[in-house]
Amino acid sequence: MTSEFITLGIETSCDDTALALLGDNRVIGDVISSQIADHSPFGGVVPELASRKHQEALLPLLRSLFASTGLKPGDIDLIAVTAGPGLMGSLLVGVMSAKALAQVWGVPIIGVNHLEGHIFANILAHPGLAPLFLCLIVSGGHTEIVLVRDGGDYALLGATRDDAAGEAYDKASKLLGLGYPGGPVIERLARDGDPCSFAFPVGLRTSKDVEFSFSGLKTALRTEVQKLSGMGAGELPVADICASFQRAVTESLLMKIRLAVRETGVRRVALSGGVAANENLRAAISDEGVRLGWESFLPPKKYCTDNAIMIAAAGRASYGRGLRSDLSLVPDPSWTIWGDDDKSPSAAVPWRVTSRENPRL
Ligand code: KG4
Ligand code: ZN
Repeated sequence: MTSEFITLGIETSCDDTALALLGDNRVIGDVISSQIADHSPFGGVVPELASRKHQEALLPLLRSLFASTGLKPGDIDLIAVTAGPGLMGSLLVGVMSAKALAQVWGVPIIGVNHLEGHIFANILAHPGLAPLFLCLIVSGGHTEIVLVRDGGDYALLGATRDDAAGEAYDKASKLLGLGYPGGPVIERLARDGDPCSFAFPVGLRTSKDVEFSFSGLKTALRTEVQKLSGMGAGELPVADICASFQRAVTESLLMKIRLAVRETGVRRVALSGGVAANENLRAAISDEGVRLGWESFLPPKKYCTDNAIMIAAAGRASYGRGLRSDLSLVPDPSWTIWGDDDKSPSAAVPWRVTSRENPRL
């Protein structure tokens, strides 16, 4: 037994099986088994395959986590497991395993919201980051700007109307025959391309709402590729296409961050989710922050993509606030962390916060 409070984090919401051990103020160890190679031939995540792979990976990973850290089941004080949102079958593997372990080891369990985990990746990476702050969550399944008012207190400022930013990268990559996941390969190829060679549309550019749309961009890309192929232009200018596509995605995200900062008056901007690993986006957010006077928080890339460290951190914080789950915990594939009132993809942003109203600003 150690005197440190130790949380085991379990993340299986999509295609990464991840486990982590978090101490009071340190990451003791973490392991991830990626399913990219399994899903890659299909150009995207196959839910049934994902669940089976989680099942195969979870217990061997747990064994290797204990072996590499020297800890044992008796050292664990809390199990934090992702209980939504995500793929139902994948979530079930994590939640059922967590419940079995909690029962056998006699330790408490807490269900964690995956998006709250992404927010906590920032809090973990930047101990000085306190609410209020804005968090842009950009992953394969999510594109949202969240106002973090406190631990456990979140407002959705806006989300995507259609595809998530990561999904847009993945679909573009599939169309160009570049494989899955699309983001890293498009980013790599874009380095040798001219971002101004194709004028791809930036969704909802003139809208005054914090809302995103990537479906027009996807269509424009498909039309351009068909046109170039039809002309028999030989090899597609893939690097130029990737650079122009990346520029359009980054501009869509940046434009709405600018709007959210302006509307709320909150001048701290954090990034998270897989797309937050994109260098072009990271540079754009931090350069624009310097220009317009906001502070940018960019977690290390390892914390941007799915991991269990962020789940352990969010679960530990919820537990500290008195929240508890029990063995009746069931996954909720569409669990949100904001109230329905806050969900206003089409309404004007009603969250103007002033330093008079909130001295923490
Ligand atoms: O957060 P994440 O690991 O899993 C989900 O919760 O979805 O994000 C995966 C997504 C994929 O769509 C992938 O293409 C995208 O993040 N992604 C990137 C980059 N790395 C991962 N997108 C753009 N640039 C990257 N470097
Ligand atoms: Zn995620």
